[in-house]
Amino acid sequence: MYNLKLMKSKIVIAHRGASGYLPEHTLEAKAMAYAMNPDFIEQDLVLSKDDVPIVIHDIYLDDVTDVATKFADRKRIDNRFYVIDFTFDELKKLKVTERFNPKTGEQVYPNRFPIWKGNFKLHSLQEEIEFIQGLNKSTGKNIGIYPEIKEPNFHQKEGKNLTKIVLKILADYGYKTKQDNCILQCFDAKELEKIRKELKSDLFLIQLIEFEKETKQLTHFATFADGIGPWYKQILSEKTDGKFSFTSLVSDAHKLGLKVHPYTFRADDLGEFSSFEEMMQTLFIDAKIDGGFTDFPDKVISFLKKKKLY
Ligand code: G3P
Ligand code: CA
Repeated sequence: MYNLKLMKSKIVIAHRGASGYLPEHTLEAKAMAYAMNPDFIEQDLVLSKDDVPIVIHDIYLDDVTDVATKFADRKRIDNRFYVIDFTFDELKKLKVTERFNPKTGEQVYPNRFPIWKGNFKLHSLQEEIEFIQGLNKSTGKNIGIYPEIKEPNFHQKEGKNLTKIVLKILADYGYKTKQDNCILQCFDAKELEKIRKELKSDLFLIQLIEFEKETKQLTHFATFADGIGPWYKQILSEKTDGKFSFTSLVSDAHKLGLKVHPYTFRADDLGEFSSFEEMMQTLFIDAKIDGGFTDFPDKVISFLKKKKLY
């Protein structure tokens, strides 16, 4: 039996928080997302040198922080600065900013929160869970977490076991089964399969999908995962006379009992859509997805409310 949220017809996942409005994965972006009432708030996870899971999108630090000026001599041979080379105390000294290209210094989404303004910091998974659980207590809401195990192979090569550390923290905070308000996601299918079959986790598991060939492996994914998280373009086929047709991905997944939570809906990056409304109508209604990751939870929720689906 699932957590009640997963029985809802549509769920909204705040992707890196309300990251369309505030720098991604900051507690400020999480607070803003929380106030918008999504079903889940996402946490991407990477280990520090001293084994603290940090909430950050990449194994690198140099596209969302001032590490290159504060710790100029700590870059690796590839000129990148790695989360795993810094202790939690060192990471706390960094200033976090809106995502930018470290080669040019240019902001990736120019109309978002201004680069280098504000006073944002990195934080741990434990800090974020306590923040969300604290808000759940003070508001009486019950918003869930949606952590992602990032690059398990990279961690293993560095002699670290991110999954083991994360599963222990989740269990300590009461996230152990599908009834708990947590969904665990990973792009690495071997790791997710291990989480279910060897580590015997009973959490709700989402297999993220990056490559086209993985869309053909749903039968295998269904032996360990409860759902898939594809790139939304893998659901779309052609646009003819202003209307999209679809691949069989959603119906194939549904036949196997898998939920479908595509990424990432951005109001400032619409791809082939002419409006956010069209994007929402096409994916949530016409393609029948079960939920989605968005940098703009307020806009998705407002659309679903209008359709009486939220
Ligand atoms: O995890 C789903 C979504 O976040 C897509 O992946 O690269 O943004 O972590 P990414
Ligand atoms: Ca993610």
